[in-house]
Amino acid sequence: MNIILLGAPGAGKGTEASKIVDTYKLPHISTGDIFRENIKNQTPIGLLAKSYIDKGLLVPDEVTCKIVEERISREDCKNGYMLDGFPRTIAQAEALDKITKIDLVINIDVDFSLLLDRLCGRRVCKDCGETYHLKRLNGETKCARCGGELYQRKDDNPETVQSRLSVYNDQTAPLIEYYTNKGVIFNVDGSTTPEAVHELVSAKLDSMK
Ligand code: AP5
Repeated sequence: MNIILLGAPGAGKGTEASKIVDTYKLPHISTGDIFRENIKNQTPIGLLAKSYIDKGLLVPDEVTCKIVEERISREDCKNGYMLDGFPRTIAQAEALDKITKIDLVINIDVDFSLLLDRLCGRRVCKDCGETYHLKRLNGETKCARCGGELYQRKDDNPETVQSRLSVYNDQTAPLIEYYTNKGVIFNVDGSTTPEAVHELVSAKLDSMK
């Protein structure tokens, strides 16, 4: 099954992706993670991506589409995959339609008033990428899953978050209508707990087996 996780920054795409991976063993392809890995390794793509990500802007479509096309052509994706954070523009969605068929788009819908706090309080594991929120960490600084150090993403500051949310409104939100018209969208209320979100998503995925 080929799945897309759609939602505003902080909606809980990464949180839900990690639960889907555990249960359904699908390769998790996060364009944000791919860019961060490239930034860490100071590759040419990383240097380019950094100049956009630090401002809360989208990396150009042609760069992003090429990366995804190459990634989903690999052997581990032949029985399905889960895209997290891609597509983010209509042009990206159209490019994807030319190379693959999408079975389900999980749209995690959260009121914008919750997102600033979620993103500015987010901590991520350096080693396995697991995501936490300060409120639920109770002072813990290590990852409960693998023991790795937790850090704060550079783009999780109030100014950059505002820019990311406005980019989402202008360029990504139109994808909800795009995929609704294709009859593949599944809307989930993401303002509840991660467990409640996963229960709804699992029920949907199980019904499609
Ligand atoms: P990316 O890494 O994809 O960031 P994003 O879309 O902004 O999404 P986030 O990872 O910030 O949020 P999330 O929805 O995964 O939330 P999470 O689960 O962590 O992209 C980063 C940048 O890369 C972009 O800005 C862009 O520049 C570039 N980029 C990436 N893809 C691109 C593309 N296709 N085209 C062009 N450029 C691209 O949760 C957030 C917090 O909330 C956590 O603290 C978590 O614990 C908490 N939380 C999660 N769910 C719940 C819940 N149900 N209840 C309470 N708290 C919750």
